[in-house]
Amino acid sequence: MTKQFLSQFKVGFIGAGNMSQSIISSLLHSQILPKQNIFLSNRSEKKLKKISEELGVQAVSSNEELVENSHVVVIAVKPQDLNDAIETIASAFNEKQIVISLAAGLPLEKLKKIVPQVKNWVRVMPNTPVSIEKGVIGYCLLNESEATSALVESLFSASGVVEKVDEGEMFEALMVATSSGVGFVYEIMLYWQEWLEEHGFTPEQSRRLTVQTFLGSSLLAEVESHKSLEELQNKVASKKGVTASGLDSMRELEIERAIRYSFEKAVLRDRELAKY
Ligand SMILES: NC(=O)c1ccc[n+]([C@@H]2O[C@H](COP(=O)([O-])OP(=O)(O)OC[C@H]3O[C@@H](n4cnc5c(N)ncnc54)[C@H](OP(=O)(O)O)[C@@H]3O)[C@@H](O)[C@H]2O)c1
Repeated sequence: MTKQFLSQFKVGFIGAGNMSQSIISSLLHSQILPKQNIFLSNRSEKKLKKISEELGVQAVSSNEELVENSHVVVIAVKPQDLNDAIETIASAFNEKQIVISLAAGLPLEKLKKIVPQVKNWVRVMPNTPVSIEKGVIGYCLLNESEATSALVESLFSASGVVEKVDEGEMFEALMVATSSGVGFVYEIMLYWQEWLEEHGFTPEQSRRLTVQTFLGSSLLAEVESHKSLEELQNKVASKKGVTASGLDSMRELEIERAIRYSFEKAVLRDRELAKY
């Protein structure tokens, strides 16, 4: 979608929290949308004033007014606040609008029940690296539409890699691997850091070396995308060498099984939360 075409759209964000701020910053930074096309509402007025001034976007004092004046509405409140934010103003939405929910654990069928006239409900799952435009953004649609997909991909492409998935197993897997996944990666990075500290490095040195190892490995895999991860791993691990010995132990200890088990547990928790 061209920037010129996108600039016809008015996009309203309900909730001026971390996610909205990151997504709006990326949209402005990449010049996907001009400031005057972005509208923002929030529960507390003080925060609305502060954030809208910082970002230079249009502050709107009520969610209803924002919905009435936007072609695309992004609902970026905590899942437990979503009902309060839109139930009483459900009649303000129209069937041509694209309505995007970022709320974790709220399936499309539930969203449709709150505002049934909206045909283009979209569920989006971003992760925290969207704040540096290196996120993973998964999305699924209530009703298939190429035009809606193209718009969602254009809006979120500035924040990272955008992936369309089916709701259900794929969406759950994406959420656990990429959104919760950020927390799991930090858990593993902590093991690296602590081990270095135990071997004489200061906490600052250990953090720096750990971050650079993960960053370097990821960037190398990105630059050499024609090679499989296994090939890149084999480059470090010569037969009976130091790395190979460590890898053998990792496999003997069944680290993969522990990680898979943790992922499955996280999926079960997501299903439990979706029931409420
Ligand atoms: N952060 C993540 O890593 C992440 C990842 C994936 C998905 N998400 C989803 O993204 C959504 C937003 O998360 P966040 O981290 O940005 O949350 P956040 O920083 O807590 O921001 C939520 C914002 O919503 C506002 N709000 C609450 N009720 C409202 C209402 N009725 N009308 C207007 N504004 C209202 C809050 O206002 P006040 O502060 O004034 O109360 C707050 O500014 C959540 O649904 C979350 O599940 C987040």
